[in-house]
Amino acid sequence: MVIRRALPEDSHGIALVHVSSWQHAYRGIVPQPHLDQLSVADREKRWVEIFERRASETLVADTEGHIVGFISYGKSRQEQAEQEEGEIYAIYVSSSHWSRGVGRSLWEAALAHLRGLGFARAIVWVLAANEKAIRFYERAGFTVCKGSEKAVEIGGKKLPEVRYGIAIA
Ligand SMILES: CC(C)(COP(=O)(O)OP(=O)(O)OC[C@H]1O[C@@H](n2cnc3c(N)ncnc32)[C@H](O)[C@@H]1OP(=O)(O)O)[C@@H](O)C(=O)NCCC(=O)NCCS
Repeated sequence: MVIRRALPEDSHGIALVHVSSWQHAYRGIVPQPHLDQLSVADREKRWVEIFERRASETLVADTEGHIVGFISYGKSRQEQAEQEEGEIYAIYVSSSHWSRGVGRSLWEAALAHLRGLGFARAIVWVLAANEKAIRFYERAGFTVCKGSEKAVEIGGKKLPEVRYGIAIA
């Protein structure tokens, strides 16, 4: 497996991971009709746009030409964020490849880039019910940022989200 920068032609592979990972990880958390209607074609279009806009940095985990995970990151989207704060916008691994260190490898590569970009901290918003992801972030050294809960509406349901952060300087 190699971790490499994502290319526009990876849009389809990233969309496949995105949809399948959502459908496995968020079952019982996000309303099922929302998960059922997720479409790889729609998601692929969104990724084509993300590449065109150069909206974020994205790395993929590539196993012999097959994308099994990705991480997307950049400057924190938080209003009044400190200048030196980066954010993981998304990290998804194909459910068939969970718990094999793919997520950890993606995060370590992104961490090196975020440091190179001069960020002193990194944050991530995670659904409060997403225990697997929270365990992953805590093992990587993230801690919950006190007083930073918010709700995000997905599929007509309000879901609590929590912000986690880590010093990376
Ligand atoms: C959260 C997520 C990105 C973590 O990726 P991952 O590849 O499963 O993570 P890792 O394998 O690096 O680490 C996770 C687990 O594997 C274990 N592990 C890591 N390397 C390992 C190895 N070489 N051999 C065996 N186990 C290993 C870790 O100890 C950890 O254990 P746990 O499952 O009991 O918590 C992934 O599970 C995922 O895509 N989840 C769905 C999407 C999601 O929730 N994204 C976050 C949104 S905020």
